Amino acid sequence: MAEKIVVDSNYYTLTQDWEPEDFQSYQAMKEDDYWSPSDEQQFEAFEIGHMMFLVLDHDREKPLHHAPIGKYPQHILDIGTGKGTWAIDMADTYPSATVRGVDMFPPPVTWMPPNCVFEVDDILRDWTWREPFDFIHMRLMLGSFTPEGWDQLYKQCYDALTPGGWIEQVELDVRVHSDDGSLQEDSTLATWGDNFIGCSERAGRSLLTQETMRGAMEKAGFVDVQEKLYKIPLGPWPKDKVLKEVGQLQYAHWLAALEGWAMWLLTKFGAPSPWTKEEVQVYLSNVRAELRNPRTHAYEYWYVSDRSMGTVRGYILLIVFSRRVWARKPTEEEMANVVIKTESGV
Ligand SMILES: C[S@@+](CC[C@H](N)C(=O)[O-])C[C@H]1O[C@@H](n2cnc3c(N)ncnc32)[C@H](O)[C@@H]1O
Repeated sequence: MAEKIVVDSNYYTLTQDWEPEDFQSYQAMKEDDYWSPSDEQQFEAFEIGHMMFLVLDHDREKPLHHAPIGKYPQHILDIGTGKGTWAIDMADTYPSATVRGVDMFPPPVTWMPPNCVFEVDDILRDWTWREPFDFIHMRLMLGSFTPEGWDQLYKQCYDALTPGGWIEQVELDVRVHSDDGSLQEDSTLATWGDNFIGCSERAGRSLLTQETMRGAMEKAGFVDVQEKLYKIPLGPWPKDKVLKEVGQLQYAHWLAALEGWAMWLLTKFGAPSPWTKEEVQVYLSNVRAELRNPRTHAYEYWYVSDRSMGTVRGYILLIVFSRRVWARKPTEEEMANVVIKTESGV
């Protein structure tokens, strides 16, 4: 039988089958460090989120990434791999590469391609990988680190990439908007994002990562920085077939993820004082009720009133934003030019 788990005191490598119980103490130890739980519900949310991002970029030949990493990358790293689906899909897409997925929590996988490896570790600790990476990927890591933690992480990525190698990050904005201003300003959904951003800022780990990541990458020395902003429907209201599917997936993603997002942040950093579990539950019921409002689901809906019956344009077109940024470590030649220019004072 293949090796089950390689254990090295604080460092684990999942190579084949493993039992979740093996990690319970590790999970308990880390529970207080991070806003999102690692449970079945969250893993389901990660899976739906993964599908949503793939459908969103359905017109690309390789929707898993935008960085031009060539046909035969050798070493790829997925930081905060979650359920590990992106890493597994990348390993299938690039048989030439070893794809490492690292997370504080072990992904619930029972099978992975032979060129995919999962490791359980805190990414801010010293990295021990020997081979330089061609590509480092992160998705939905918002609110994971303090600003200093992010600076450290981008530096670690920069140092671990081969010259000319790429970094890519995809993040969501937690604020909900409506496409046409139809979301009432005092609704729970309209205020939800700022409520969470407030909690995350009191926790010292802002959820505004999608706004800060580009600058932080540039600060770390990455060049050729590019980005794409996505407007994602939340609910199946679009007429366009693909966007409708995206909206359905994003809606399912939200419903699956809501409690995990909310509980830790609100019970620890809620305003004006930390909320009780029961208060969070009531709040979440309101959010769910607003999300389920049929007006948020129908592009057009029928109404019956005293005077007339017909379609109205009173629907609420919910949207959320997501941003993808990809950037390159300078090539050796570019780095040499910088040194020459600096030395010659140009
Ligand atoms: C919201 S999930 C996103 C999972 C996955 N990237 C995806 O897109 O589905 C963020 C993940 O980052 C992991 N994470 C947070 N802080 C970490 C750290 N310091 N070291 C390693 N993983 C971390 C969490 O355990 C969680 O699985």
